[in-house]
Amino acid sequence: MIRNIKGTKDILPNETDLWQYVENHIHDFLKKFGYSEIRTPMFEETNLFSRSIGSETDIVSKEMYSWIDQGGNNLTLKPESTASVVRAFNQHNFANLNKINRFYYINSLFRRERPQKGRYRQFEQFGVEAIGSDSPEQDIEIISMAYFFYEHMKLSNLKLKVNSIGSLETRKNYKKSLQDFLMDYEKELTDVSKKRLKVNPLRILDTKIDFEINIIKNAPKIIDYLEDPDKKHFETILNSLEKINIKYEIDHRLVRGLDYYSRTVFEIHSDLLGSQAALCGGGRYDYLIKELSGPSTPAIGFAAGIERLIIAMDKEEHNFSINPDIYIITLGQEAIDYSLNIMKELRLNDNLSVVSDTLKRNLKSQMKEANKLNVSHVIIIGDNEIKNKKLIVKNMETGTQEEISINKISQYFK
Ligand code: HAM
Repeated sequence: MIRNIKGTKDILPNETDLWQYVENHIHDFLKKFGYSEIRTPMFEETNLFSRSIGSETDIVSKEMYSWIDQGGNNLTLKPESTASVVRAFNQHNFANLNKINRFYYINSLFRRERPQKGRYRQFEQFGVEAIGSDSPEQDIEIISMAYFFYEHMKLSNLKLKVNSIGSLETRKNYKKSLQDFLMDYEKELTDVSKKRLKVNPLRILDTKIDFEINIIKNAPKIIDYLEDPDKKHFETILNSLEKINIKYEIDHRLVRGLDYYSRTVFEIHSDLLGSQAALCGGGRYDYLIKELSGPSTPAIGFAAGIERLIIAMDKEEHNFSINPDIYIITLGQEAIDYSLNIMKELRLNDNLSVVSDTLKRNLKSQMKEANKLNVSHVIIIGDNEIKNKKLIVKNMETGTQEEISINKISQYFK
């Protein structure tokens, strides 16, 4: 038997009501902030991701699904969406259209990570990108939008972690100091960190290994290397977060796994998620648009895993399953033919969901299925009903049954 690929999953009919509920909520919520949906292709030129995410990052160096197609093009399944949105922003000259562009997206992404709970090789993500403003007010809009989203979904115990990684210059200076500090511990570091120490020492900051975390506790902090305007930018954000009662924690180890960030970075964690605790993550990327051959334009955004949201949601609190309204029981061929127009009317004119039996089963079996589907009403059609132009309608909640004339049926369900 052929099975699904490791790290992918089927979302089965008993889960899709919840998925649809979440997706509808995402569309509604983000539109409240004036963001518009953008859809970019599932795959792009590989170059787009190595130039934006960074060739030394885990994503680009070992997690991308890349291939060369029959035309010799080097292509990659999207491992994240920001690069694609920026590519589209540049390609369609959005900078000339509006001073600020507010985008959101929901799409499938692909990373060849080690699968575990909350971490998949194909996963669903939604996210937003606000392109055009460099003021801290934009950062506050984005961070609070993410936070309020989870509050609105009734998630508690949210942990907002923020940090500022400053300008390219700041990072260059900090990288050197961090390297100098870590060199004293080189022998103790894992092989992976030893390699990172030379090329990308900032990556060592988000190590999950206890003894490395201990070493890093005494490492220099990037926040102490910020230039004045960046420091002020960060302080304004923190002050505003306090004003709107959003609790935060400055996490000096938070540098994020993608290279395009500058200034503000943040993540929201939930302790309901186990080791893959990040519900969402994002930050500023003031250099990326120019880096991808567009006009120099500041931007900030975040993205959120939908599987992780669903894991963290308290499923008890909501009733997500949507049951059909009516089950039509037909007894005999004539009744089946007779039901076709009735079903069309109920579905298309009266906007009801109607299920019928296509297995030509007996009354008992059809009633059993109607019960299983938890419909609110059953309509029974037999020879007598056709002759009298009436239908038997059973209210499944009260158990009462009545005869309704065929031309009054729409009215009955209004
Ligand atoms: P990211 O931190 O790589 O950022 O991903 C954002 C979120 O996607 C994570 O916090 C997590 O919820 C989810 N996620 C990531 N990888 C997986 C996985 N393998 N399985 C399940 N869920 C996963 C970005 O993607 C940036 N583009 C965010 C951004 C937007 N920055 C600025 N704008």
